[in-house]
Amino acid sequence: MNISKNISIKSHNSFGIDVSAAYFSESHHLEDLKHLLLNRCHPDIFILSGGSNLLLTKDLNAHVIKICHKGIHLVSETENEVVLDVAAGENWHDLVLWCLEHDYGGLENLSLIPGCVGSAPIQNIGAYGVELKDVFVSCEVLEIKTLKTQTLLAEACEFDYRSSVFKTRAKGKYIIYNVRVCLSKQPHVLHTQYGDIQRVLKENNTDKNPTIKDVSDAVISIRKSKLPDPKILGNSGSFFKNPTVGKDIFNAFHSKWPEAPFYKITENQYKIPAGWLIEQSGLKGYRENDAGIHEKQALVIVNYGNASGKQLLAMAQKVIQTVKEKFAIHLEPEVNII
Ligand code: EPU
Repeated sequence: MNISKNISIKSHNSFGIDVSAAYFSESHHLEDLKHLLLNRCHPDIFILSGGSNLLLTKDLNAHVIKICHKGIHLVSETENEVVLDVAAGENWHDLVLWCLEHDYGGLENLSLIPGCVGSAPIQNIGAYGVELKDVFVSCEVLEIKTLKTQTLLAEACEFDYRSSVFKTRAKGKYIIYNVRVCLSKQPHVLHTQYGDIQRVLKENNTDKNPTIKDVSDAVISIRKSKLPDPKILGNSGSFFKNPTVGKDIFNAFHSKWPEAPFYKITENQYKIPAGWLIEQSGLKGYRENDAGIHEKQALVIVNYGNASGKQLLAMAQKVIQTVKEKFAIHLEPEVNII
């Protein structure tokens, strides 16, 4: 098994932060993973996937294992549905494209989300009215302590808005090495009500009987117009979650800022877009050295080149504090901060 010592992992995190890993190995199969855990060079391990939801503020004094497991397998098929097993190291967007090629529906709204399949359940990735949990069947996990494998069904994963059991009670307990999803065959159920999808379908002349490919194309063009490409400008997508507040706080907020967009989740819960709060705090496009707030989408923190993790974290803290002072609302990062 190949083990590198003291290597930079700049190319393994989408912020492009130059920190080093004390030890670094790739795992290509479940057997590699077990072998690496048993023979690790450091008591601490750090599991790296696509590195697209990660803010690294220090060197990783650990044995870093990058999950590179590949493969998409058809498990079963009926007239209306297919069940697929996807290895954790598959690139998420490549999976979406593969599904579009095979005319399997369900992932089209999740087009162009950076990262790998194995991290998708951790934060229950979501966009344009669809979340991973909507297609998720189960995942295969390796328990780090015991090296035992298990299948976790959706209920056991405790999916929530940008969260799951892997971010809460079971944080650091398992490595996800396979994800099982159930997708549709014709006729597909499309989700086109959210945000700008309808408008872009019209602009593309694909609003009459759109296909899943048309929806994916619309999502791709919306994302490209707002979200920076991490290959060009380091970032990790939405840095903050959209805060959820109770009715009393919402009513006080709404009477003061009636123009603010919001989503009613339940009778007593309202979601307020963090991007709006940050923009109204005057921080959209703000920059200090190489750390900044994206000029087209205030939810995204960007690395203009050589920002350190600490500088990016300081920018996030400035955002949290400024929004708190202006709106008395606390923003929570969506990104994993190490
Ligand atoms: N807004 C502003 N200023 C901004 C950004 C947004 O005023 O700079 C306003 C918009 O005008 C709109 C509202 O905020 O009224 C919501 O904006 P948008 O539809 O762009 O979505 P979002 O809430 O900012 C969420 C997800 C994105 C996802 C989009 C589309 C979170 C934290 N973010 O963003 O997810 O792509 O909806 O579904 O839930 C990600 O997780 O990395 C991500 C990009």
